[in-house]
Amino acid sequence: MKVLVIGSGAREHTLVWKLSKSPNVDEIFCAPGNAGISDLAKCVDIKVDDINGLCDFAKKSGIDLTVVGPEGPLVAGIVDLFVENNLCIFGPNKKAARLEGSKIFSKDFMKKHGIPTARYEAFSDEKEAIKELDNFDMPIVIKADGLAAGKGVVICNNRDEAIVTIKEMVNDKKFGDAGSNIVIEEFLEGTEISLLCFVNGKDIIPMESARDYKKAFDNDEGPNTGGMGCFSPNNILTDALHDEINEKVLKRFMAGLKKDNIDYKGILFIGFMVGENGAKVLEFNVRFGDPETEVVLRRLESDLVDVLLKTINGTLKQSDLIWSDKKSVCVIIASGGYPKGYEKNKEIQNLQSNIDDVLVFHAGTKKEDDKILTNGGRVLAVTALADTLKEARDKVYKKAKEITFENMHYRKDIAKL
Ligand code: AMP
Ligand code: GLY
Repeated sequence: MKVLVIGSGAREHTLVWKLSKSPNVDEIFCAPGNAGISDLAKCVDIKVDDINGLCDFAKKSGIDLTVVGPEGPLVAGIVDLFVENNLCIFGPNKKAARLEGSKIFSKDFMKKHGIPTARYEAFSDEKEAIKELDNFDMPIVIKADGLAAGKGVVICNNRDEAIVTIKEMVNDKKFGDAGSNIVIEEFLEGTEISLLCFVNGKDIIPMESARDYKKAFDNDEGPNTGGMGCFSPNNILTDALHDEINEKVLKRFMAGLKKDNIDYKGILFIGFMVGENGAKVLEFNVRFGDPETEVVLRRLESDLVDVLLKTINGTLKQSDLIWSDKKSVCVIIASGGYPKGYEKNKEIQNLQSNIDDVLVFHAGTKKEDDKILTNGGRVLAVTALADTLKEARDKVYKKAKEITFENMHYRKDIAKL
């Protein structure tokens, strides 16, 4: 088979790595890819949002299966376009992808179908939104409705901060049209769980859980990022909580799809906040998470191609997913300044890993001559698999310490329970 992966981060490097292990795969392409991916796949210079260009490439190259990494092309309708062109593609269609593409659509879906989530109100008018602040305690969460590259969620500690945020989003168009409509939401306290699931059109099949660390610095300080580290499984997810989530979220989600006539095939990634009142959904994403994929796929023993094809043809069962009992940890190494402004083109040294079961996935990297240079905010995802979380953590940090580039930074407290 010829497989095409769309994207250029560590999530896509992990997908390419896992797909390359499948006996069914002869050749892998990745658009646009990165330096690490180019060791396993042919990188093609097509941007992820150029869905027509990707479709032409898939037709011309005889691609048998396309796997989409980021949300942008899914929300733009890449799956509908490929299907119209008789191409096999893994991911939800445009209608289903609105569950990530519009926070208002997603929150309304949860409310309508009784899925526990934070109390919220939606607005398109600045004055109305500011008036509503009186009905919420502080801190408060303000979210741009549309896609904002992971930056559209702001936690405001007081009313003044909330007013500034509302004005920036609705009036000043800080996130363009994505922020013309906003959600104001109650702040939830607790611990987060990321649960990625395969949805095969009829059933929802959860993968092993993960814990993402969103804040830039140790002890959950600093601004939100795309994710600075991860581990799997997440110790917070007890069997009892899994049962509760199954009843109140997964079953209601599938019933909601049916009622609303949404055909869903692909990944559903659910972000939960677990607090005193159980698990509430923070968000739905319609794609693999990053860095969740780096830890979850390291523990998947089944053939990923088989799993993806069975999801597409509606036959995937829980027993098709075989998991390693080992624990996995991922630490993201980022450019100095990330998630704010950062420099690129720093030479990276000592990438090669000689430590057992440690893999270094590339996020923002490029090759120039024989050098590997930084090319993004999140640069590398160092991952390890071991019998215990502590061993996996020690191995990851041993490797992270060997890698060097100017001004790099990473959290030192990932998986430190
Ligand atoms: P979202 O994109 O909606 O998941 O938001 C990104 C991150 O913001 C989440 O992973 C949480 O860390 C945080 N967040 C979002 N909504 C809330 C909320 N209602 N209460 C507390 N934290 C939140
Ligand atoms: N790690 C969070 C995300 O992929 O959105």
